[in-house]
Amino acid sequence: MHLSLGQKRTVLITGGAGFIGSHVVRKMVLAYPSYQIVNLDKLTYAGNLENLKDIEKYPNYKFIKGDIVDGDFINNLFSKWNFDGVIHLAAESHVDRSIEAPLEFVKTNVLGTVNLLNASKSIWKENYQGKRFYHISTDEVYGSLGETGLFSEITSYRPNSPYSASKASSDHFVRSYGETYGLPYVISNCSNNYGPYQFPEKLIPLFINNIIQHKPLPVYGDGKYTRDWLFVEDHAEAIDLIYHKGKNKESYNIGGFNEWQNIDMVKLLCSLMDKRLFRDKGESEKLITFVKDRPGHDLRYAIDATKINKELGWEPSVIFREGLERTIDWYLANVTWLDHVNSGEYQNYYNTRYKQ
Ligand code: NAD
Ligand code: TYD
Repeated sequence: MHLSLGQKRTVLITGGAGFIGSHVVRKMVLAYPSYQIVNLDKLTYAGNLENLKDIEKYPNYKFIKGDIVDGDFINNLFSKWNFDGVIHLAAESHVDRSIEAPLEFVKTNVLGTVNLLNASKSIWKENYQGKRFYHISTDEVYGSLGETGLFSEITSYRPNSPYSASKASSDHFVRSYGETYGLPYVISNCSNNYGPYQFPEKLIPLFINNIIQHKPLPVYGDGKYTRDWLFVEDHAEAIDLIYHKGKNKESYNIGGFNEWQNIDMVKLLCSLMDKRLFRDKGESEKLITFVKDRPGHDLRYAIDATKINKELGWEPSVIFREGLERTIDWYLANVTWLDHVNSGEYQNYYNTRYKQ
């Protein structure tokens, strides 16, 4: 199914005040003036309206604060707005938090997704022409790779953390609504994102933040875990393409063809930060501290993004080193944003989590 462009359409984006969601909201608001974009977000610790300051006054943008776990609220919202499409990003997204509090992940990621599916099914009433439910998911549902191999769309699900188990579960629910009720859906599973507006609990922004503050860089285990990094704007571009042109009932893997062992990536980050901060060569690397490993730590993620390339012509456009430099520059230019998230609840979490 191709959704025709230029048509009037009301699209719900959930989790639009978060990291990836804010890039998707900005892209859709700017690219499609004929769309009414509704951003629904609970504004948890990870949601921040400062991420969208530049577009908040656009006439085709509307923010609504609300919780996807609240079924009545979601049903009322859908009745009121009669959405044509849903791009669902709202989630609890941090593996370490899922190890501390798995139930929060079940509630938001599983129950929240099912609430959205039910509400979509209920307003679309089997009249599915031009309708689409798009679930944004992660490559972590596939579990861990060994030294070789890549995740493709037909790799079996084998999630290892409560986070990835909750995302796998929500993927299955989305698929089941397609099979059982005919709900038009598409799913994408993406590798690790990095870029501006990422909350500094994930590896790259946490380490940028700590380097700025001369704080230790806590590398888990031996640092030989491998991740495939993708610049967030490339992910947003893929989401736009898949929403409009992805095939109904299909899933697409999205990745950067850009694998790094954590320790090598952290050393590159340190050297780029030394240059930007006019510090001595090697100064930031001295902050690296090996700490206790994450339980159930997935050794390696790597994506085969051939399908999206062949079918939709997508490929990553940002070279990793340049993307990292852009990311560092953004954090250095946005210290007020960092100061705001460095205060309050997050600090308490950080102090508890990383106390030795
Ligand atoms: P994030 O944690 O930065 O943002 C999540 C957003 O969801 C926040 O704005 C938060 O307030 C909102 N939210 C949380 N619970 C909610 C609830 N109950 N009701 C309404 N809103 C709620 O996450 P992110 O990194 O931007 O990830 C977005 C999506 O992309 C997630 O579904 C995640 O699983 C997926 N994903 C992330 C990555 C990555 O590297 N960050 C990679 C692949 C897929
Ligand atoms: P993270 O950014 O949490 O993403 P994910 O677990 O979803 O891949 O972590 C990326 C990698 O960095 C992962 O192998 C865990 C590691 N890591 C550290 O070594 N130290 C840290 O403080 C964090 C947050 C992550």
